[in-house]
Amino acid sequence: MLKPQPVVRPMTEADLPEIAALDAQCYPFPWTHGNFADSIYSGYRCCVYGLDTEIVGYAVMMLAVGEAHLLNITIAPAWQGQGWGRELMSQLITRARQDHAESLWLEVRPSNTVARRLYDSMGFDFVAVRKNYYPAVGGREDAVIMRMDLLKHA
Ligand SMILES: CC(C)(COP(=O)(O)OP(=O)(O)OC[C@H]1O[C@@H](n2cnc3c(N)ncnc32)[C@H](O)[C@@H]1OP(=O)(O)O)[C@@H](O)C(=O)NCCC(=O)NCCS
Repeated sequence: MLKPQPVVRPMTEADLPEIAALDAQCYPFPWTHGNFADSIYSGYRCCVYGLDTEIVGYAVMMLAVGEAHLLNITIAPAWQGQGWGRELMSQLITRARQDHAESLWLEVRPSNTVARRLYDSMGFDFVAVRKNYYPAVGGREDAVIMRMDLLKHA
C-alpha cells in the first residue's frame, strides 16, 4: 500500500500550540507561539507540512523584492531522517521561484551538521560567517550564511 504523502498548507493560528511545542523539542532556543503568530500576521509564507492528523514539519519564509529568506525549517523529531526535510525544502524552493525570488537565503549554526549537509547537497553556497549571531548554552554561536541562486539552479 502507498504511504500517505504529507502536503504543504498554510499555517493557521490553530496550529501554533502544536508547532511551538515541536519547536521546543527541536531547538535549545525555540521560537515562541508569539514569534510564529507575528510571522503569520506579517504576511510571511508560513506553512505546515502535514498529514490529515499530524504535523510532519513546518517552515517560515520571508519574501522581499527578488529575494526569499528562510527563517525556519523544521521536521518533527518522529519524522526526521526519512527524506521529508529534503522534500519540504524542494517545495519551498519551488514556492520561492513562483514568487519571483532570484535567491534564497538562510542562516545555520555551524554545529548543525544535519542541516548543513542538507543545504550543501541541495546547492546552497557558503556566503559568510556572522559572528556571535545565535544564543548558545554558555555563550553565543556564529551563524553560517548560505544562499541558493534560484536562477542558476532552475
Ligand atoms: C534539519 C532537518 C530539517 C532535516 O530534515 P530531515 O527530514 O531530518 O532530513 P532528510 O531525511 O531529508 O535528510 C536530508 C539530508 O540531511 C542529512 N542527514 C539527515 N539525517 C542525518 C543524520 N542523522 N546524520 C547526518 N546527516 C543527516 C543527509 O545529508 C541527508 O541527505 P541524504 O539522506 O541524501 O544523505 C531536520 O532534521 C530538523 O528539523 N532538525 C531540527 C531543526 C533544525 O535543525 N532545522 C534547521 C535549522 S537551520
